[in-house]
Amino acid sequence: MKEFQEFNSPEDMDAACRYLIHRAKEATQHAYAPYSKFMVGAALMTDDETIVSGANVENASYPLCMCAERVALYAFASQHTGKKITMIAVVAHKRNHKELVSACSCGACRQVMLEFEQRQDSPIQVIMLGPGGKWVKSESVAALVPFGFDRSVLEV
Ligand code: THU
Repeated sequence: MKEFQEFNSPEDMDAACRYLIHRAKEATQHAYAPYSKFMVGAALMTDDETIVSGANVENASYPLCMCAERVALYAFASQHTGKKITMIAVVAHKRNHKELVSACSCGACRQVMLEFEQRQDSPIQVIMLGPGGKWVKSESVAALVPFGFDRSVLEV
């Protein structure tokens, strides 16, 4: 299995991916982004096909802004003990524009996803719209975080 697959459109992806992208798009409606005007939605799917979504939430104190991915992941963590995440999709558009723009998860969100992946001991596929306009599907978070920091170094 290749680490990354590229698609021209969600239509070229399987039904689960298409649905998750659709739910991530829906989640952008809840974005609170008065400063960046960049509306981000994330939706994750679990092994029993539960969907949990999140949107970015900004703050006048800029460093407190929270990315859509982490909103979704922390909601999942606090509501769905025992389930595993199989896939997460991230999409974005500018305020008052419908068309999606590239939005690759930031390093902080990748680091958080990595911990979820390691904690559940099974890969999480990540779907994002890449900078070249192609949809990218990563087979795991680890593939998106080479040389990542993880808990193993903290063990005594
Ligand atoms: N943002 C996300 O929600 N996810 C990312 O991975 C990158 C950035 C949000 C944070 C902020 O509200 C806005 O996009 C502009 O950076």
